[in-house]
Amino acid sequence: MANLKTKVLLTGGAGYIGSHTAKLLTKHGYEVIIIDSLFPSQSKKFYGNFYKLDLAEEEKVLEVLRKEKPEIVLHFAAFISVPESIEKPFLYYENNVGNTIKLLSAMKKVGIKNFIFSSSAAVYGIPDIIPVPETAELKPINPYGETKVMVEKILKDMARVKEINYVSLRYFNVAGADPEGELGPTYKQPTHLIIRALKVAKGEIPYLEIYGTDYPTPDGTCIRDYIHVMDLAEAHILAMEYLLSKRENLVLNCGYGRGFSVREVVSTVKKVTGVDFKVIETSRRPGDPPILIADNTKIKEILKWRPKYNSLEDIIKDTWQWELKQNEN
Ligand code: UFG
Repeated sequence: MANLKTKVLLTGGAGYIGSHTAKLLTKHGYEVIIIDSLFPSQSKKFYGNFYKLDLAEEEKVLEVLRKEKPEIVLHFAAFISVPESIEKPFLYYENNVGNTIKLLSAMKKVGIKNFIFSSSAAVYGIPDIIPVPETAELKPINPYGETKVMVEKILKDMARVKEINYVSLRYFNVAGADPEGELGPTYKQPTHLIIRALKVAKGEIPYLEIYGTDYPTPDGTCIRDYIHVMDLAEAHILAMEYLLSKRENLVLNCGYGRGFSVREVVSTVKKVTGVDFKVIETSRRPGDPPILIADNTKIKEILKWRPKYNSLEDIIKDTWQWELKQNEN
């Protein structure tokens, strides 16, 4: 166990996953520092001491690290859209890889060695084994996934010569919202299935497109392992406590080990919202693997992670409550 009031710095702490993790860290008694550019998404509510900064501003980041001297850095800040990464690859390499190198360089200068990295199931590309274990070959099929592999390689090599201690968490499809209703997804132009479907149910988008119905899956649509953002926040805290006490490097899948097809998600969104919205079947979206389901044996064994929100209906309900609340404001 880390000491209470351990200082934790979150890059991207005002974003979707970062803001939920910051809230949970605060509840656990940690001191939270946030660096966030507030681009492209932002929470209106912050848990922690906030610095509005882009990681490209290396000198300013260095100043914050020198001043705050956190014991550990949780690095959430990154671009996350698979389709955008295909259209604008350099933007993704520059931000996700280039700015991570700048952050690691600033950490080295200040002597901060503990690092939790937001990786992704996108590192696996189209996996040969489902559920996919961490040992599977890394063969991403889009630039977004490539950026995560590149950073993982950097961390592995640095760890080999003891320049860093790290845990890389490979997120599957993160969804849901704070069940207490304070936080939720804040994307200005959401591309994610659940959020888009809810916005259609709300009447903000005219119809939902299903990207591809000819995949090699039982109903022809892609299957994903949707994980509630609060369970993922909990995984960060466990990973952090493990790293601070054991100083051992880890790479862990974060998913529930089961999957839902796009059609199953659509029918659950209709059931939860009570709205029978318009759905159009269109062609495949580039860069989408047919099936991604986590083998989560390792995180359960090593971190004793026990998910509390493993229900697609609850994930959708929490996100729906959040979406409805946005209209009230
Ligand atoms: N989809 C639709 N219609 C939509 C939106 C999505 O049919 O309007 C489909 C997609 O084609 C895909 C599935 O729903 O088959 C899930 O798509 P999302 O955009 O919700 O999520 P992705 O699986 O593309 O990507 C997410 C994260 C990535 C991460 C990946 C790992 O955004 O960062 O999960 O599983 F790498």
